[in-house]
Amino acid sequence: QELKLNLEEIEKGGFDHFMLKEIYEQPRAILDTFRGRLLANDGTIKMAGIDQNLEKFLNANRIIIVACGTSWHAGLVAEYIFEDLARIPVEVEYASEFRYRNPVITDKDVLIAISQSGETADTLAAIKLAKEKGAFVFGVCNVVGSSIARETNAGAYTHAGPEIGVASTKAFTTQITVLTLLALKLAKEKGVFNTTRFHEFLTELENIPSKVEKALLSNPLVEIISEVYKDSANCLYLGRGYNFPVALEGALKLKEISYIHAEGYPAAEMKHGPIALIDEHMPVVVIATNKGHYEKVVSNIQEIKSRKGKIIAVVTEGDVQVKELADHVIEIPETLESLTPLLTTIPLQLLSYHIAVMRGCNVDQPRNLAKSVTVE
Ligand code: G6P
Repeated sequence: QELKLNLEEIEKGGFDHFMLKEIYEQPRAILDTFRGRLLANDGTIKMAGIDQNLEKFLNANRIIIVACGTSWHAGLVAEYIFEDLARIPVEVEYASEFRYRNPVITDKDVLIAISQSGETADTLAAIKLAKEKGAFVFGVCNVVGSSIARETNAGAYTHAGPEIGVASTKAFTTQITVLTLLALKLAKEKGVFNTTRFHEFLTELENIPSKVEKALLSNPLVEIISEVYKDSANCLYLGRGYNFPVALEGALKLKEISYIHAEGYPAAEMKHGPIALIDEHMPVVVIATNKGHYEKVVSNIQEIKSRKGKIIAVVTEGDVQVKELADHVIEIPETLESLTPLLTTIPLQLLSYHIAVMRGCNVDQPRNLAKSVTVE
């Protein structure tokens, strides 16, 4: 028993929890995921699973993404990326709903299944169904040789390394990395991107690990903010565009490990319901980066403020407008709009982590949850 405990301490590499270790591993994990694939100097992206099946992707009527939990949120980010960059229509589905609703699937569809563990029962069943209907099925998994990796026609692994904490962190950002590489490659092949724009994206993606490193510097500030809100009963997360799924993921993280009721919403939908909940007891986490509907998000912040809600804003460094309004401001480095989820996610992971620790929760093994859900 003692030996096992010591071994676990070593595995945690000096961090108090696996989750925090895994949050800090993200610069490396993202780098490992694009290493050997993103060849900025040659101006190419090399991914065997795509190169060998390029026609399937280029001739696809649409891409259907299936996943569960955090992987489903990565799928939502991918929807924005694929449609915006590669101009391919995308639908994102909960695997558990997709498999039972008699979906219309043809051999002109490409199905992408996203799964950290590669063992999620509903995702696996959705893959089998799509294959039966003749769709080409592509997997984005972290665990090598997992059931989903074996069941799919082709795929690309995330190279996040083992993820032990039940709440997914580095798997999420590396899934987004793989899906971004895929979208960029298709954008280039389809001629949506010219060489200059393609190059701009490749170079910026290469810069992401060091920008994640910078985003991690917010940790002490996030810890102070966590102290203020650790006893909240509820928390609202808002974001728009590329950062709407990040709001969902931020809320999921808080629910999962701190057991605080949290909801993620697209910022503009606030007026259709959640605004009724806002008072001085409601912390609202708002992602308000300088690109992507910034002014509109600023007016949402004003609406929260006039109802005395507490505002924790994630902004781009150098921001002035939101600073005037928000109770707390967390800065992330500037990047291309479509790459912002890789940075805005970081402080939200840290926020849920610190709040959970302060509440005395079992961060790495939250109650009622499992790392891999192999039953329906
Ligand atoms: C469980 C885990 C989540 C994960 C989800 C999907 O609920 O606790 O962290 O996002 O399953 O898992 P997968 O392995 O398919 O990504």
